[in-house]
Amino acid sequence: MRKPIIAGNWKLNKNIKETVELLEALKKELADIKDVDIAVCPVFTSLVDAAKAIEGSNIKLGAQNVYWEDSGAYTGEIAPAMLKEIGCTYVIIGHSERRTYFGESNETVNKKIKAALVHGLLPIMCIGERLEEREQGKTFAVLEDHLQGGLEGISADDMLKIIIAYEPVWAIGTGKTATPQQAQEAHKYIRDFLKKKYNEDIAAAVRIQYGGSVKPANISELMAQEDLDGALVGGASLKVDSFSQIVKGARK
Ligand code: PGA
Repeated sequence: MRKPIIAGNWKLNKNIKETVELLEALKKELADIKDVDIAVCPVFTSLVDAAKAIEGSNIKLGAQNVYWEDSGAYTGEIAPAMLKEIGCTYVIIGHSERRTYFGESNETVNKKIKAALVHGLLPIMCIGERLEEREQGKTFAVLEDHLQGGLEGISADDMLKIIIAYEPVWAIGTGKTATPQQAQEAHKYIRDFLKKKYNEDIAAAVRIQYGGSVKPANISELMAQEDLDGALVGGASLKVDSFSQIVKGARK
């Protein structure tokens, strides 16, 4: 049985004070939840205070990005060990916004995943097609390309530490959620890919999140799909009510 995981991708939102306030409220609201893994991913500058705020709770911390080098002349970058040092468990890698606005490619995603794993961070690897790719019938081809490139050279043991987030780009921040059937179809494709690349056991164990306009109103029908193991939540993760309801709605 795969344990559901709900992660909040806060993107470029909330200063330190707002971060701590939201986390204090979430801690209270979600204190009883044991059957869903919960993570929040605030901006870099809030991570230290966020780690303190959630200490001892059932909420884990993630970062939204990482670089693959340990140190050196890489102005503006953050190393995996630095995220680990301040208490991060997860790191989002290859979000479509990073691919679109910051030139990330399968190659950089792959380097980041490998570096994160070396330092004991659990990668949340984002993949997904754009609207025109879906309309041209290229959804599976895009998923295959993202999976093949992103997971190049990843061992079976390491694969068990990776979470895949299927995020159709056309559903992110648009209010237009994929239908449960569209999501399931993509998730099944991803699990079949893992079966072929690794084996049945690995494919059955890896958690695949859906992301793209997840809300309290649609989490249950999404979670009812066989291959859907949680959600990566953007907009609705910024408020205590909506994020808590999504976490509670993710209980299978
Ligand atoms: P959204 O973002 O929930 O606001 O659509 C999801 C994401 O980008 O991870």
